[in-house]
Amino acid sequence: MNAQARSLSRRLLLSRSAAVVGASSAGLLLPQIVRAQGSRIKVGFMLPYTGTFAQLGVAIENGVRMAIAEKGGKLGGREIEWVKVDDESEPSKGVENASKLVQRDKVDVLIGTVHSGVQMGIQKVARDSGVLNIIPNAGVHASTRALCAPNVFRTSFTNSQPTLALGKPMVDKGLKKAVWITWKYAAGDEAFEGFKDSYTKAGGTIVKELGLPFPNVEFQALLTEIAALKPDAVACFFAGAGAAKFMKDYAAAGLQGKIPLYGSGFLTEGVIEATGPAAEGVITTMHYADSLELPRNKQFRTAYAKEFKMQPDVYAVQGYDSGQLLVQGLAAVGGDIGNKAALYKAMESASIDSPRGKWTMSKAHNPVQDIYLRVVEKGDNKVIGVAAKALADSGAGCKLG
Ligand code: PHB
Repeated sequence: MNAQARSLSRRLLLSRSAAVVGASSAGLLLPQIVRAQGSRIKVGFMLPYTGTFAQLGVAIENGVRMAIAEKGGKLGGREIEWVKVDDESEPSKGVENASKLVQRDKVDVLIGTVHSGVQMGIQKVARDSGVLNIIPNAGVHASTRALCAPNVFRTSFTNSQPTLALGKPMVDKGLKKAVWITWKYAAGDEAFEGFKDSYTKAGGTIVKELGLPFPNVEFQALLTEIAALKPDAVACFFAGAGAAKFMKDYAAAGLQGKIPLYGSGFLTEGVIEATGPAAEGVITTMHYADSLELPRNKQFRTAYAKEFKMQPDVYAVQGYDSGQLLVQGLAAVGGDIGNKAALYKAMESASIDSPRGKWTMSKAHNPVQDIYLRVVEKGDNKVIGVAAKALADSGAGCKLG
């Protein structure tokens, strides 16, 4: 090639790349191509790593990482860059923390969170920005009801799902007068909605509703009140370290074995060992149990224990299923997270082969799943029945699908 030809081909090259840059700045060409082919996909965890729900956040992150690692450690063929924010289960920082991940870190996917109040902040940021949000725990109704969104998917439950299956087994045992106790925030209040509905429909009467602010664990005065009320049973929502403290205080107040203790299964998840004998006999409803006799569950539990040197719980399962959902969704679009219509369609129609049993997504993007009845026996959540089959949340007010 002579000097003139070289100069021509250089000018051509420059003008072509200028055209590509032009097209890209107009949002036409380059971003999708570059993103779909090889650049790393950015996944942000917004979870509690401190406070009463710290161990829940860790279990979720472990589960997500494990599901993706089992499929080669990539999403739709793309390497992953991970980022993390500790949300401290602090609702007042919810929007700020979610914005950090979306605006500053420019995550492609936001996985979070545990606490319903914090989720409301994420929900706002997800709806405003359009970022893909996978909720690996927080059960706040609005996320998959009135504030549902095409880009928000939940792999866990709604707050009333487990307790919708709780009332009947209590009344079936002849326990017709109950006291309800919880932390007073969205998760506790909405768990109460499910309990009230199922217990009163089955013929039970709620004699008193007790509560204390999250994450307060000064249960003494309330337990004294329960002892004086002498109900047939107590039902509750507590979780994490606070749940262990509640069961210990319940036993120390002399109520264990006298007034049967029921709850949504979070009460005993991941805390049976820390609670010790005070957890024995506690009966709960939940979409998972350690002892589920499913090959998928056994395989999952063995692999998790080997990898993380601890036992998995429902939070680890929900994280694992979040990872599975992402793997399936991004495989369907070859890693092109910008292809939203196809991505969401694949995620909506996903069938998740979970350690909890297979489940599907409702139109509002919440799991349709079985709820198990469990009792703590010799330090284990033993399954004593299926309390509800393929239970779906109402999705009231959601216009998706
Ligand atoms: C919630 O705030 O939605 C929440 C927190 C912990 C749980 C369950 C629900 O175990």
